[in-house]
Amino acid sequence: MNILLLGPPGAGKGTQGERIAERLGVPKVATGDVLRAAVREGTGMGLAAKGFMDRGALVPDDVILGIVKEALEAPAMARGVVLDGVVRTVPQAEGLRRVFSELGRSLDCVLLFEIADEEVVRRLGGRTVCERCQTPYMGKAPGDPCPKPGCGGKLVRRKDDEPEAIRTRMRAYREQTEPVIAWYRGDGTTFLEVDALGDVEEITERVMTRLAQCGEANG
Ligand code: AP5
Repeated sequence: MNILLLGPPGAGKGTQGERIAERLGVPKVATGDVLRAAVREGTGMGLAAKGFMDRGALVPDDVILGIVKEALEAPAMARGVVLDGVVRTVPQAEGLRRVFSELGRSLDCVLLFEIADEEVVRRLGGRTVCERCQTPYMGKAPGDPCPKPGCGGKLVRRKDDEPEAIRTRMRAYREQTEPVIAWYRGDGTTFLEVDALGDVEEITERVMTRLAQCGEANG
């Protein structure tokens, strides 16, 4: 099953994406994670993307489509994939359809995580991430040790979780990503909404129920 997760920053796409991929036994591709790894490694792509990311702006479409094409061509993706935040503009949606079509595949389902702006601000304002394993946490302070057994990393705040960058990310979502919702609704792809407010485990169950509906819709 090929699934695309859409939704505002902080909606829980990363948290749920990991859990869904594990449940379905398929890999997850998150363009945000790929870009942050490139920044840490200091590659050309990372250096080019860093300025956009730090201020909360979208990275150019051609960079994203290059990442997506390379990722989807990997043999490990053949059985299905969970795509997290991979499409944020209409040209990216068109590009993803092209990449899938070249591979003789298609998107089975788009899941939209719905959440109010106040909750986005609360979550992003309270997020820390492990600098080593990149797991996000709530209610922990920068400098705390990563709670994951055996990790040993330290928690830090993401640069784009500063208030000004959060505002820019929310604006980018409204102006550039919301049109993608209408695009998919008109495209015939199975499109399902999920209430992203609540307990993490509860939301995973909601998502799995939605995915079962997606499976039925696709026969
Ligand atoms: P990316 O890393 O994808 O950022 P984002 O979309 O803004 O999403 P987040 O990672 O902030 O949030 P999330 O929805 O994954 O929520 P999470 O699970 O972490 O992208 C970063 C940047 O890369 C972009 O701004 C852009 O510059 C660039 N980029 C990436 N893809 C691009 C593309 N396709 N085109 C152009 N540019 C691109 O949860 C958030 C917090 O809430 C965490 O602390 C978590 O622990 C907590 N939480 C999760 N679920 C719950 C819950 N149910 N209850 C309470 N807390 C919860």
